Amino acid sequence: MDLFEYQARDVFEKHGVPVLGGIVATTPDEARAAAEKLGGGGVVVVKAQVKTGGRGKAGGVKVAKTPQEAYDHAAAILGMDIKGHTVHRVMIAEGADIAEEFYFSVLLDRANRSYLAMASVEGGMEIEILAVERPEALARIEVDPTVGIDAAKAAEIVAAAGFDADIAEDIADVFTKLWTVYQAEDATLVEVNPLVRTGAGKIVALDGKVSLDENASFRHPDHAELEDASAVDPLEAKAAENDLNYVKLDGSVGIIGNGAGLVMSTLDVVALAGEKHGGVTPANFLDIGGGASAAVMAAGLDVILGDAQVKSVFVNVFGGITACDEVANGIVKALEILGDEASKPLVVRLDGNNVEEGRRILAEAAHPLVTLAETMDGGADKAAELANA
Ligand SMILES: Nc1ncnc2c1ncn2[C@@H]1O[C@H](COP(=O)(O)OP(=O)(O)OP(=O)(O)O)[C@@H](O)[C@H]1O
Ligand SMILES: [Mg+2]
Repeated sequence: MDLFEYQARDVFEKHGVPVLGGIVATTPDEARAAAEKLGGGGVVVVKAQVKTGGRGKAGGVKVAKTPQEAYDHAAAILGMDIKGHTVHRVMIAEGADIAEEFYFSVLLDRANRSYLAMASVEGGMEIEILAVERPEALARIEVDPTVGIDAAKAAEIVAAAGFDADIAEDIADVFTKLWTVYQAEDATLVEVNPLVRTGAGKIVALDGKVSLDENASFRHPDHAELEDASAVDPLEAKAAENDLNYVKLDGSVGIIGNGAGLVMSTLDVVALAGEKHGGVTPANFLDIGGGASAAVMAAGLDVILGDAQVKSVFVNVFGGITACDEVANGIVKALEILGDEASKPLVVRLDGNNVEEGRRILAEAAHPLVTLAETMDGGADKAAELANA
C-alpha cells in the first residue's frame, strides 16, 4: 500500500524524522485556515496529494505567500488531474528556506534478496533521470537486513554520496531515523526527495514516499486507517471480505474459475473468443480457490453479478481435490441463495474428478440461466456470444 505524502509526513514525524508542519485540506476554505494556522501569515506551499510522481511539474505544487493565495492555489489544484489521478486533497506545508536539495531512499531489492539504500547530493530532480544520465551521482549501497542502517552504515552511505563534512553527521542521523521508519512500519520503500538543508543549516524531509508491506498488516492494526477508502473498488472490497481473489477488469464476460493458472488461461480464451463476438472481453479475474463450496460459489457469483458491466458469466472449474459433483451442487445452491439476484446467463464447464456426476446434477437442476459446455473453448465461445447478444 502506497501512502499519500501527508501520511508519510506523519509517519516520519512519529519516528523522529525532521519534517515541517503540514495540514490536509479538502476545500479552499480549509486551505486558507490551514495556511493561517501554519504560516502565521508566512509562506506556505500548497501540494496536491496524489499517489503519483511529478506533481510539481504538473502544476500541483505551488508556493503561497498569503492565506488568500493558499485559498486560490487550492481552488486551482483541487480537482486537477495529474497522470490520471484526480486531486481530492492538498497538503498545506510550512514553507522551507531551501539551500540545498538531496535524495535518499531505502527499498526492498528483490533481485539481490536484500535492501538497497540510495542517496545523492543532487536531489529535487527526477531520480530516474539522474540514475540514467549521471549514475555516478547516485550512491547505491546494499543494506544487510539483519543489521539495517546503523550509525556505521549511515556513515558509509553519506561518504559514498559525497555529502559535505559539515552536515555529514546530521544527514547520517536522519538516515538512521528513516531506517527506523522502514523497519518499524514494515515498509518496502521509504523515499525522500527532496531532503533539504535549510538556510539555517537544518536537515528536513520535504517530500516523502512510503510503501507499506501488506503482508505485514497483521502486525500493524493502525495501518488500516491509512487506506484510501475512496479508491477501493466496492466490488473488490466485497470480494476481499469473502477472501476471494478478485480483480475487476473492463469487459462484459464475468469469469469464475478455480486456481490462478486456470483463471488466467480462461481470460485468454474468452478474449480470443470475444474477437468473433463483437470484441467482448473478460469483466474480471476471480479465483475461488480449491474449495468451491456453495457458499464460496454464491459469494463469487454475487460479486460478479453485482458488476453492471457483466452480461454473461463463464464458470470454468477443473475438479481436483474438490470434485465436480460438489462444485455442481455449489452452483445449484448458489443460484438458490441468490434467487432473483442471479439474472444473467451462466455458461458452466466442468472437467476432472467426478465430472459425469457433476454434469448430471446441473442437467437435472435445469436452471433456465445455466448452459452446460463440454469444453473450455466451447464454453468461452458461448459466454462471449451471450455477452454480445
Ligand atoms: N515545504 C516546502 N517549502 C519550500 N519548497 C518546497 C516545499 N515542498 C516542496 N518544495 C519545492 O517543490 C519541489 C517539488 O516538491 P515535491 O518534491 O514535494 O514534489 P514533486 O517532486 O514534484 O512530486 P513527486 O515527488 O511526487 O514527484 C521541491 O523539490 C522543492 O523545491
Ligand atoms: Mg518530490
